[in-house]
Amino acid sequence: MGKGVHSLLAKKKRGEKIVSLTAYDCPTARLEEEAGLDFILVGDSMAMAVFGDETTLSADIDVMIAHTRAVRRGAPNTLVVGDMPFGTYECSDSQAVMNAVRFLARGGADAVKLEGGNRRMLSRVSAIIDSGIPVMGHLGLLPQSIRKTGGYRVVYSKDREQLFQEALALQEAGIFALILEGVEEKLAGELTRELRIPTVGIGAGRYTDGQILVVTDMLGLSGDFRPRFLKVYAELGSAIRSAVESYSSEVREGAFPGEEHAYHPREEK
Ligand code: KIV
Repeated sequence: MGKGVHSLLAKKKRGEKIVSLTAYDCPTARLEEEAGLDFILVGDSMAMAVFGDETTLSADIDVMIAHTRAVRRGAPNTLVVGDMPFGTYECSDSQAVMNAVRFLARGGADAVKLEGGNRRMLSRVSAIIDSGIPVMGHLGLLPQSIRKTGGYRVVYSKDREQLFQEALALQEAGIFALILEGVEEKLAGELTRELRIPTVGIGAGRYTDGQILVVTDMLGLSGDFRPRFLKVYAELGSAIRSAVESYSSEVREGAFPGEEHAYHPREEK
């Protein structure tokens, strides 16, 4: 079991920034725990980051749960949040509770995340929390609703009223933290000051209580995907390509394996 969800609220109270990334596998989660992240999200961005799909809509719950288990193994002492994929909580409160339970019971997650804050989503969030599972909210740009909104749209001041009303209602329903994705900086800052619970931003500027990025994006593994909100901290894409090129030419030239990589007859004692 990872750290409790209250650790994030405590950070907000102390005025300390919350730091998070996504992870989809055990080795990455292990490194993230060693680096001291406050929580790890097994995001449905996995559909794009790992499986190369165009959107997150194809994320599959069984696959997500298997990857959540891998992340749990890599990061046994970090708060792990499982992202409920599209189609796993829309139909009814009981569908939402059943699938949230699977994230904890089979995936080993500590909490789940759901997108949206309309009346239907509030009912889902309350039902999951009533069953004893902590919920993280997600407002602003909602990748699971792009078919309705017509694309990836940043939320600006004209949508302030809806954003604030949904955030406050989610807080009342009992979420422990709120992801703000693609929100105008000033708006995200004002909402952060208004809420008791911590906000964690991605593309929401400097004034949220914490930050999250998709790990493959910040490690330079997402090709030429370089949106304004992203900072690339390591160019692992180029590093991997150049390692594979070196390996290929050494094999072709007969330089690898060398004598030191080969097994030789054992000396009899
Ligand atoms: O799926 C995901 O990675 C997310 C983050 C962008 C917050 O929801």
